[in-house]
Amino acid sequence: MQTVIDIRGLTKTYAGGFEALKNVSLAINKSEIFALLGPNGAGKTTLINIVCGMTRLTEGEVLVDGHDIVSDFRLTRAKIGLVPQEMPTESFETVWNTCRFSRGLFGKAANPEHLEKVLKSLSLWDRKDTKSMELSGGMKRRVLIAKALAHEPDILFLDEPTAGVDVELRQDMWNVVKALREEGVTVILTTHYIEEAEQLADRVGVINHGEIILVEEKERLMREMGKKQLTLHLYEQLDRVPPALGKYNLELSDDRQALTYNYDTKGEHTGITDLIKELRDAEIRFNDLQTSQSSLEDIFVDLVHKA
Ligand SMILES: Nc1ncnc2c1ncn2[C@@H]1O[C@H](COP(=O)(O)OP(=O)(O)O)[C@@H](O)[C@H]1O
Ligand SMILES: [Mg+2]
Repeated sequence: MQTVIDIRGLTKTYAGGFEALKNVSLAINKSEIFALLGPNGAGKTTLINIVCGMTRLTEGEVLVDGHDIVSDFRLTRAKIGLVPQEMPTESFETVWNTCRFSRGLFGKAANPEHLEKVLKSLSLWDRKDTKSMELSGGMKRRVLIAKALAHEPDILFLDEPTAGVDVELRQDMWNVVKALREEGVTVILTTHYIEEAEQLADRVGVINHGEIILVEEKERLMREMGKKQLTLHLYEQLDRVPPALGKYNLELSDDRQALTYNYDTKGEHTGITDLIKELRDAEIRFNDLQTSQSSLEDIFVDLVHKA
């Protein structure tokens, strides 16, 4: 697996002394979708802005395709497209020109076919001659994405891309991101909308208080940290869980009408068949049962609270 961004021992101390990143090391693989999750103020935007050369690092180093982001700024920046969290100031330019100029800034020759493809993928084609400032908020955000893709970057950063956007744009954006990965583009997105990571990410990193507390493949994270729960709704109220069933760590609901059994998703043997047999032996009858599985959201909240 090829590393496309290599962050080593990165520390950021803002003027005033606040340490927003503490010795962060992280390697991003080529063509993966990496979701950086963390609560507000965790340091996500700071990290992205450093890699994109908009914020100066305090200690450590960052390599993009093997090139140092400080000494080789122009080269590394040209490989990156950035969709910033904050909307920049209003543009009097048309959508088409905004994208065309941005491409030019990175020293790329004009390529109207590419711009057309990007604008169409974001449903912006019929707005190409509209001034950006005349567009709605959702449309402006589409323009930001188009602008970031205008120079055909190998790496795309999306900083909270779907905060406050409508369902349609969210869906379009997810489709654009998936199509980019097919083309070999590496995508790093930050979000505190966990479902987004669940939908898109190959790997997930969790950052809290300026420290990376976990980096894992999403599937593996959900498999290993996910818990499943079986709830049995009882025919008759139960005074207490019979001692014979003690090994199952069953929880009796407050209304004494339901039993909950927690089990691991990674174990081959869930114990459910044995449990049901033992319930029958104890003459505890139930009229309904349901299972639920923890989401990435549950896992994330768990991690951030423990840290
Ligand atoms: N220019 C700055 N000067 C001082 N502190 C800052 C500055 N920018 C961000 N911070 C602080 O650094 C921390 C991380 O901010 P940020 O990277 O924006 O977090 P996130 O994007 O995860 O919400 C926050 O506590 C924030 O207040
Ligand atoms: Mg942010």
